[in-house]
Amino acid sequence: MDEINEQDAAHAVLRWYAEMGVDEAVAPSPSDFYSWTGVAAVTAPKLQTVKTKEPPGRQPPAPSSTTVSTDEAIKTAERLAAACDTFEALNEAVRSFDGCPLKAGAKNTVFTDGVPGADLLVIGEAPGRDEDRAGKPFVGRAGQLLDKMLAAIDRSRDANTLISNVIFWRPPANRTPAAMETALCRPFVDRLIEITEPKAVMIAGGAPLQALLGVTGIMRARGVWRDIETAGGARIPALPVFHPAFLLRQPANKRLAWADLQNLARRLKER
Ligand code: URA
Repeated sequence: MDEINEQDAAHAVLRWYAEMGVDEAVAPSPSDFYSWTGVAAVTAPKLQTVKTKEPPGRQPPAPSSTTVSTDEAIKTAERLAAACDTFEALNEAVRSFDGCPLKAGAKNTVFTDGVPGADLLVIGEAPGRDEDRAGKPFVGRAGQLLDKMLAAIDRSRDANTLISNVIFWRPPANRTPAAMETALCRPFVDRLIEITEPKAVMIAGGAPLQALLGVTGIMRARGVWRDIETAGGARIPALPVFHPAFLLRQPANKRLAWADLQNLARRLKER
């Protein structure tokens, strides 16, 4: 029999993982990697589940227990958000909310940056590593490009723009937020829109487009105004635009992004 050396064995295992569809070295539930020291054992955060009683002999289907707990967490988010009448109260409520599993693996809650009550609200996808560290949205490379895009239409987070995301905790390995995660944060996003009453929302990228409007395909949706409808009945005009991280990868699309920014600026100048 051929002898298999350790390197070949490791390659074989990696090949097998790849064939099974594993393409990221992350666990299914978040871990706070910042708190890891050396090789200390880390216990995975407990998944929040609510068990329902079933008659003897009947087994509840496994997914329903998580569905119940997610539904309950969404209700909690709705209740917390609805109780807020000010931006400050909402900010506190988001930070107190423990129903989103991503929070367990995040260093910080990343809610907003900028001027609450500004007539422009930018909503992006999710905090990345830099944002998680800083506790502020859009501070990494994509954030720097966003700042330049805003400056091109006389906008800045210091003066006249508020910035947020559809989720407030960093997903592991910066993956796209899951529908469950955006649903858990949505009551707070809706309440943010209702409380700050922007004249327009700039939706930065495909993930927030899907989360806020249920529309897929940023290539076709960009540059076309739609209304965001909140749970409390507000209707606010929203313009989907390319995400700045996409523009960093595909700078040829900056031409279209510039047209969208002009479009946004025109709308903001209307009475
Ligand atoms: N990308 C986003 O969508 N949001 C951030 O806060 C940072 C990067």
